[in-house]
Amino acid sequence: MRVIIRPSATAACVTAARIIANQVIGQPDSVLGLATGGTPLGSYQELIRLHRAGQLDFSRVTTFNLDEYVGLGPQHAQSYHRFMFSNLFDAINIDPQRVHLPDGLASDLTEACADYERQIVEAGGIDLQLLGIGTDGHIAFNEPGSSLASRTRLKTLARQTVDDNARFFDHSDDVPRLAVTMGVGTILESRQCLLLATGENKAAAIRGAIEGPLTSQNTATALQLHPAAIVVLDQEAASWLSRIDAYRHAESYMPDPDQLESAD
Ligand code: GLP
Repeated sequence: MRVIIRPSATAACVTAARIIANQVIGQPDSVLGLATGGTPLGSYQELIRLHRAGQLDFSRVTTFNLDEYVGLGPQHAQSYHRFMFSNLFDAINIDPQRVHLPDGLASDLTEACADYERQIVEAGGIDLQLLGIGTDGHIAFNEPGSSLASRTRLKTLARQTVDDNARFFDHSDDVPRLAVTMGVGTILESRQCLLLATGENKAAAIRGAIEGPLTSQNTATALQLHPAAIVVLDQEAASWLSRIDAYRHAESYMPDPDQLESAD
């Protein structure tokens, strides 16, 4: 696991965006796994900036999002579908036909989940999966207790997650209690995983994810099993780590992740 610690949340978001940008520059038909939440917004802004500066072409990129609330349609202001178009897709040259999110309105959710898995396979698998982390350590909506071998499925949100996400809704009663989410097993099949976390409220979950024992009680710990996982943190999210010096030392030998590759 490569751990990159940046001085600020803004710098961490830029680093994550540059890693995604380099994936797209190196492989213009990349399949990206994308995430929602407050954390990646700064990364999406940087990707939009690079696109507008003529440095990033999304025309051949395919995307799969991690999760969607059950019961919220694409036009609902708080659906993850709407989030992705408002915060990224509408501002870049991605082909909407290549964009995939779980269908929170599917009449047969079990079949829709199996179909989502099939679509990922048909696209050739996910090259780079961006992830956030919940304060309870969840990745996507894989709440504590989720099988580390789980696949795309229906999941009940933990009470803590409902409380955390209530800030996006008028009232906490409006937060859906169910979601469709890629499973931990689905996520681990991505060729590369990129976990981005910022802020002191993520420090405990991050310590568990990186330095704790593998456990379904913090599903981000499953990334310890992934052969190509990168974690990008700001200082606050890194503040509970006990081996910060070792991560900084290792990073000093690595290429600068903010450096954009040349398209040639
Ligand atoms: C949500 C999403 C996750 C996200 C997490 C953190 O519940 N399902 O994919 O990583 O919350 O969100 P935030 O970045 O807003 O803290």
